[in-house]
Amino acid sequence: MPDTPKDDLCHVTILGTGSYLPEKVLTNADLEKMVETSDDWITSRTGIKERRIAAPGEATSDLGTKAALKAMEEADIGAEEIDLIICATISPDTFFPSTACYIQKNLGAKNAVCFDISAACAGFLYALQVARHFLNTGNRKTALIIGAEKLSVMVNWEDRNTCVLFGDGAGAAIVQSREKSDRKIIASVMGSDGNQTAILSVPGGGSACPITPANANEKLNTISMQGREVFKHAVNAMRDASMQALERAGLTAADVAMVIPHQANARIIEAITDRLGIPAERTFVNLHKYGNTSAAAVAIALDEANKSGAIKPGDIVLLVAFGAGLTWASTIIRW
Ligand code: ACO
Repeated sequence: MPDTPKDDLCHVTILGTGSYLPEKVLTNADLEKMVETSDDWITSRTGIKERRIAAPGEATSDLGTKAALKAMEEADIGAEEIDLIICATISPDTFFPSTACYIQKNLGAKNAVCFDISAACAGFLYALQVARHFLNTGNRKTALIIGAEKLSVMVNWEDRNTCVLFGDGAGAAIVQSREKSDRKIIASVMGSDGNQTAILSVPGGGSACPITPANANEKLNTISMQGREVFKHAVNAMRDASMQALERAGLTAADVAMVIPHQANARIIEAITDRLGIPAERTFVNLHKYGNTSAAAVAIALDEANKSGAIKPGDIVLLVAFGAGLTWASTIIRW
């Protein structure tokens, strides 16, 4: 379903972006020593060469805070000017309070309303759209949205099907309402399909299946995935969401200067951009460095595209993501 307010009361603009990646690098060669895999298999099936792993004492909110500070610096926004913080994450510091509240405390953003969004890899784009709606009501002016993950704590490091895919990191953006702005969100699409919860989940550790002494060795609190099924749904959902958002914006794929897709698998990205007719040079990819950082992935990629000059003022930028739920979203921005 298109999810663009019919008549925007204001223009919603991204004033600044930031990202943070933990220092520790885990390469494919390192993984060869941990499970039966090879650099060749991982590279050819996914495109991933290495990923980052947060330090034991480093929580998701710590990663998110560091990314947020960089976004605030670029936007030239002080902590007390922020009146909304939304953190998208599937690896929160605690079940409650929300990771957004921990980040609020770290920043001293005492005027903000704070909450988390759980939409897996689509989380950052869900957060962007929720912030856009808040800003459109006129009640809030400046939002900090964050995608932050410490997935390394929910990976089964003995399962070669999943452990090679994921990494830790965070990205953030300062989003503000303006009466008029050339740089603005033009159109968005969001969707979910709760019939497919089983193909990608962390089955244990919640109320449906608590971890008990009896099941503690079954690693139910780690990521479980039917890779091929997820792959198929990811390609279809991201292609369709991209086309719907373009249609909603009155644009075509030829107008897109850069597509910034969810960074899960190079083959998924190729399949989508092939179907859209967008060539590799107009597709932003950084998954070889970080693997799949779920809600953080599009946020980190957006920041790197911004800071490296891969996207320039006036460019039409297409963001698109897909994750567990299933959830998907796309957003078109004039940069
Ligand atoms: N090293 C070596 N061999 C492996 C590895 C590994 N790390 N992992 C699996 N294999 C083997 C399998 O056991 C299988 O062997 P078999 O044929 O003897 O049974 C073989 O490789 C092929 O396995 P497939 O699962 O068919 O491989 P596929 O080409 O589908 O690639 C992958 C697997 C990379 C997981 C792919 O399906 C994928 O990327 N899926 C989508 C993941 C994704 O996008 N997730 C996004 C959302 S994540 C979120 O929301 C948190």
